[in-house]
Amino acid sequence: MDSGIGDRFQTGTKYDRDRIIRERPERGRRPARHKIYSDVEKIVLPEPERDGGTPLWRTIRQRRSVRNFGPEALSLPELSQLLWAVQGVTGRINAFALRAAPSAGALYPTETYLIVNSVAGLEPGIYHFDAENHALACLRKGSFAREASAAALGQHMAARAAVVFLWSSVFDRAKWKYGQRAYRYVYLDAGHIAQNLALAAVALGLGSCQIGAFFDDELNELIGLDGENESVIYLSVVGCPGS
Ligand SMILES: Cc1cc2nc3c(=O)[nH]c(=O)nc-3n(C[C@H](O)[C@H](O)[C@H](O)COP(=O)(O)O)c2cc1C
Repeated sequence: MDSGIGDRFQTGTKYDRDRIIRERPERGRRPARHKIYSDVEKIVLPEPERDGGTPLWRTIRQRRSVRNFGPEALSLPELSQLLWAVQGVTGRINAFALRAAPSAGALYPTETYLIVNSVAGLEPGIYHFDAENHALACLRKGSFAREASAAALGQHMAARAAVVFLWSSVFDRAKWKYGQRAYRYVYLDAGHIAQNLALAAVALGLGSCQIGAFFDDELNELIGLDGENESVIYLSVVGCPGS
């Protein structure tokens, strides 16, 4: 059977009893655990709720992809709650932070960026989520709704949503431990994160949809990522459901 790059990836990253030992990577210096943008404007987010909320079974039952959004803005507490559900710090082992979504080896290679179209009290622009400080770093101000939609293969929901969540992976963080096998795990990690967002959106009476179809390097350029060491791998949009 003809094998394309996906087939070769799947075969080439399999563990077998020989390979798991043979391919254990040489561990050099550990990459930084998370990104901090210095010398940019920081917005400390409101404290998220850590208890209560909409019952879980109902939330799971009600989740559907929402692609039509009304003009209503998200509130800052709603955005804060969504970000906490996505990657908030929910535990610590000594100084080491554990996050809301699981991550292979607790390496947390995923970074969260936002294209904010409409959030009350927050200027439209591009932001990075600093999970340790539950804060946003402002990377660029301005409306990027048109660019977001164009980069998502013209899907209008990226322009109409209140917020576009972009998840990048810093591949070396996971490759440091898992070598090439890390490329499986970074996508699994992002899936967990996106599901947390989808459920949190329902719990807040909001709608969301995942987006896997996008021009990778258009988004990398928008955010300022090199696309090799760190690249956008997944998106979700969130907003108030429209009629
Ligand atoms: C990895 C992934 C990528 C997706 N990409 C898109 C997308 O680019 N555009 C879109 O409209 N929906 C996208 N979706 C949403 C699916 O189409 C949707 O989940 C599916 O039709 C099932 O419907 P439901 O989410 O309402 O249960 C994606 C979902 C996943 C899990």
